[in-house]
Amino acid sequence: MNPIIDLRSDTLTQPTAAMRSAMAQAPVGDDVWGEDPTVAQLQERSADLLGKPAALFVPSGTMANQIALLTHCDRADEVFVGEGNHSLYYESGAGPAWAGVTFTVVGRHGLFTAEQLVDTIRPHDQHFPRPRLVTIENTHNRSGGRVFPQSDVAAIAEAAHSRGLSLHLDGARVWNASVATGTPPATLCGPVDSVSACFSKGLGAPVGSVLAGDRDFVARAHRYRKMLGGGMRQAGILAGACLYALDHHVARLADDHDNARRLARALSVVDGLRCEPTLVETNIVVFEVTTHSAADFVGLAAKRGVKLAALDQTRVRAVTHLDVSAADVGEAAQRLSKI
Ligand SMILES: Cc1ncc(COP(=O)(O)O)c(C=O)c1O
Repeated sequence: MNPIIDLRSDTLTQPTAAMRSAMAQAPVGDDVWGEDPTVAQLQERSADLLGKPAALFVPSGTMANQIALLTHCDRADEVFVGEGNHSLYYESGAGPAWAGVTFTVVGRHGLFTAEQLVDTIRPHDQHFPRPRLVTIENTHNRSGGRVFPQSDVAAIAEAAHSRGLSLHLDGARVWNASVATGTPPATLCGPVDSVSACFSKGLGAPVGSVLAGDRDFVARAHRYRKMLGGGMRQAGILAGACLYALDHHVARLADDHDNARRLARALSVVDGLRCEPTLVETNIVVFEVTTHSAADFVGLAAKRGVKLAALDQTRVRAVTHLDVSAADVGEAAQRLSKI
């Protein structure tokens, strides 16, 4: 059979030879002792890029989001999230378990407006959890890599701040949002109090995320990282891959976005699939299957050498990334059209 085309996630990328070489050459020290120069460099550079005074290197986006909850909230506080947000949907119930927070969903399909947020916030009353934090996701994974409109981010920040709530951005793919809109990450993050950003998604690093915010926030986050076992030793080997990714793999995200649109256009004319190319803004294509369950379709696709992920009963996700070419998406669409 022809080589497998793996469109399950942009986390599946293999570190390139040049990235491995950058990792091998990175100067290192014990980062728990604050002595790893490459981690320090990555933290400074990330803080700068994200427009925040400080940043903390952590092993994963999940840990960054969990530390954000712990740092912003007290137990039993209420956190407002979009439908399907990663911290609600994909973090194994960690928010309620570790930070003790209650999640309340705002709006439908992940993105929401300030008006929807305001309508969802209940008045102060002893019966209700204390409203404390709003979390938005940009780009939004389960909604198909949608970019959160910046005017909504600004209005949500205003609504949150005027009610004493903080705003956290899960920016695992903020780099994609930046490339898709031509807006610097620092501008996208301007209205938010904290941001988590990943190097191990479209940027192709094997490990690593940062959590950025003001200096006091990051100092408190540092303690939670230690409590969760996220203090790493000669982590410059990993930070070196992330620095390499920032230098070499950001601008090329535009190729992934082009490939995603190419795939969506090809799938939109296949009988039995519903795919709307105009909804594809970044590297994620979500389409509906009308002839099979999503799980059955994913199984049949795998037999034809195309790996996909079922999102629910009917919806399937395909993600383009560093290891997927324009020719691969053409070939993938061909194979899928034969099911
Ligand atoms: C939007 C979003 N946030 C956070 C994460 C968690 O990242 P990690 O897998 O590094 O824990 C992911 C993972 O795919 C994600 O899509």
